[in-house]
Amino acid sequence: MVVAVPYLLEVTTDAKGVTLKDQLIAYAASLPKAELHLHIEGSLEPELMFTLAQRNHTDIPFKSVEEVRAAYSFSNLQDFLDIYYQGMSVLNTEEDFFDLTMAYLNRVRTDNVRHTEIFFDPQGHTERGVAFDTAIGGILTALSLAKKQFGMTSKLIMCFLRHLPEEGAINTLHAAEPWLDRIDGVGLDSSELGHPPSKFERVFKAARERGLKLAAHAGEEGPPDYVYEALDLLHIDRLDHGNRSLEDDALVKRLVSEQMTLTVCPLSNLKLCVVDDMTAHPLKKMLDLGLRATVNSDDPSYFGGYMNDNFAAVITALDLCQDDIKTLAKNSFRGSFLSEGEIRAHLAAIDLFQ
Ligand code: ADE
Ligand code: ZN
Repeated sequence: MVVAVPYLLEVTTDAKGVTLKDQLIAYAASLPKAELHLHIEGSLEPELMFTLAQRNHTDIPFKSVEEVRAAYSFSNLQDFLDIYYQGMSVLNTEEDFFDLTMAYLNRVRTDNVRHTEIFFDPQGHTERGVAFDTAIGGILTALSLAKKQFGMTSKLIMCFLRHLPEEGAINTLHAAEPWLDRIDGVGLDSSELGHPPSKFERVFKAARERGLKLAAHAGEEGPPDYVYEALDLLHIDRLDHGNRSLEDDALVKRLVSEQMTLTVCPLSNLKLCVVDDMTAHPLKKMLDLGLRATVNSDDPSYFGGYMNDNFAAVITALDLCQDDIKTLAKNSFRGSFLSEGEIRAHLAAIDLFQ
């Protein structure tokens, strides 16, 4: 039987009417995966927002969960960031950060995420009077518990807010000093346009000297030049988003030859109007060009889905085959900050899936 769907000329179904796409979505869901681009503050679900607001007697400008969800309509990155920073105001105690992190870990466990590399935004908290130690303490306790309770491994990446001066990032690195044995890397996030990677050259150099891994958001809204700066001035180990790299053939060639991992976030790209439509998403093209692309959720509570929802969205809209999906799952471990031995073990586990 053949069924017409908007993005494919035809899709075959089996006797029960299960389409090939349904099978691919189930296959992607079943695979072990790593998540490499996840802002823990962006996993704050409206229900938890209300619970924490009540617990801490914090005012929030919403009357119901439905009202919060209705406010999640964005035309660009800045639109989202305004509401994202507002949402954080309910996070005040170590217990709040623990509950937030535990909720994410429990949720993605059901998506077969076996390893996660979590961003957090310390300046989003210290700027409003919440201590660095309060935020990181709660997050780390949850990460340890997830390892003990269900074997999920993790890395923690501390992001600098690029709309603030570099001095704030340097102060944040100093505040992190007592925790550096439990912080794996630094990242660069927030408003991209007008805040190029070059603004953070000194603090990235200091982080590199401390043995930290380096990631940066670049090419989400910013031009290919920002990706060059992240590579040449910040010396990143991983590129967050990187979509606009595709506008520059020489840059693509370089990213392929350096086997740079791109942490691509399909539902985020749709919600922030980086793409007009999921059928226009560049993920398939990235794979075809040989780029080491991965699938991630970015801020799942705000963008409408966790890891497997992102896979389902791209499988539905794009012409991904089973090999592409396997490559995406393998890339998530190849691009992780796990050891070579750990990566090898995860790749072998993926090979057991048919
Ligand atoms: N902070 C949280 N999500 C972000 C994104 N998608 N881009 C930049 N900064 C962010
Ligand atoms: Zn992000």
